[in-house]
Amino acid sequence: MEKRRISFSPPDISELEIEEVCEALKSGWITTGPRTKLLERRLAAYIETGKTDVDCEIQENERRYSNRVVCLNSATAAEELNLRIFGVSAGDEVLVPAYTYTASASAAIHCGATVKFVDIQKDGDAATHMPEMDFEKLEASITEKTKAIITVDIGGVVCDYDRVFEIVKRKKNLFKPMGSDGTPLGDLSSRIQKAIGRVAVVADSAHSLGASRVFKGMRRYCGAIADFTSFSFHAVKNFTTAEGGASTWLPLDGIDNAEIYHMYQLLSLHGQSKDALAKAQNSSWEYDIIGPWYKCNMTDIMAAIGLRQLDRYTTLLAHREQIIAKYDETCDALGIHHMTHHTDVMDSSNHLYLMRIPGITVEQRNGIIRELAERGVATNVHYKPLPMMTAYKALGWDIRDFPNTYDYYHNLITLPLHTKLSDEDVEYVCESLKETMRSAVLM
Ligand SMILES: Cc1ncc(COP(=O)(O)O)c(C=O)c1O
Repeated sequence: MEKRRISFSPPDISELEIEEVCEALKSGWITTGPRTKLLERRLAAYIETGKTDVDCEIQENERRYSNRVVCLNSATAAEELNLRIFGVSAGDEVLVPAYTYTASASAAIHCGATVKFVDIQKDGDAATHMPEMDFEKLEASITEKTKAIITVDIGGVVCDYDRVFEIVKRKKNLFKPMGSDGTPLGDLSSRIQKAIGRVAVVADSAHSLGASRVFKGMRRYCGAIADFTSFSFHAVKNFTTAEGGASTWLPLDGIDNAEIYHMYQLLSLHGQSKDALAKAQNSSWEYDIIGPWYKCNMTDIMAAIGLRQLDRYTTLLAHREQIIAKYDETCDALGIHHMTHHTDVMDSSNHLYLMRIPGITVEQRNGIIRELAERGVATNVHYKPLPMMTAYKALGWDIRDFPNTYDYYHNLITLPLHTKLSDEDVEYVCESLKETMRSAVLM
């Protein structure tokens, strides 16, 4: 086999994205503006209907698809704002799976909360084989201080939200909604906590735009399942705006959705009562600062990439699915365990390909990664568990308390999965894996 260079996750940018970015640059408006607002509306329509071809500039559609998405500069910022809107702060506890990326936990720490890690189920969820939290341990970890659970839809696979919601409802009596401190944010958070009336389910769906699952008997898309959801549009994600992300939430009875949307705007733009676009209109220069808040808005240049990515998104997802089918075939033939992207109740966004090689040590796993790299195939590990990381060890966490998490990690490899892979590239990855496994057996 002639050697190929297979990178792990390059962005898929077509002429369409390039042209739209040029249009944005020439338009005279490059920060948060009309393109960002249009992307928010179209993402809201996608989350509600699964349709990517909705033109939300039309007035009628503006009313039909709610103002439930705020585009930001990262998923980390989106999760942080989700927690801040819900009023998470010092003294609160946030439950996070030990098996995830740091941003799932660090966003809660930024808010001043204490993170409590939860081990995963042995070998992951029975149907998808993904590292879902152990539900008994999750339930037992909820105390009077718990304000939120971060569920992580790793690799685009949607967690079992029916189970998570059953748990938070059963533990409702422990939840004490915060009172208002009289500030605009404190007052809104207090009303949101009273309306939800239990621990909030805050999804880290960094990988999962477009994924869906049957929830409460109905198929719903990520962004319309958990109380709050964050998406990542980072360069390595299925859907990219270079950097970027979005927050979305479930509209609440008794609270005007426009008020929640406006609070996200304030939190993401210095607490400034008017954004640059509003100030530019009708020479209405004067603004107020409502709170000394953050700066994490999306620019129209980023949104320009997103608008054209959204046009192509269902095609991109289908391409990923074909690659997954080839990988499944190869892993099955080699006796390698792998995640399941599609079940009767769940369709993932086909973001990552996690596989676990039975009977190998961490050293052998790392040897296989090195050998694949020598053959030109870049792979990865999603993830080294957080209790193994310096920052979290310093907070007192110890991986020995999370045996299922460690076990899941020790033999895991993530294969390259992206839409720049040709059929020949996929064939090359599969053949390289077969050859590497043959030499690994001899090691
Ligand atoms: C599970 C998970 N959550 C959150 C993030 C953070 O995303 P962003 O880089 O957009 O902040 C990532 C990034 O890779 C991730 O993998």
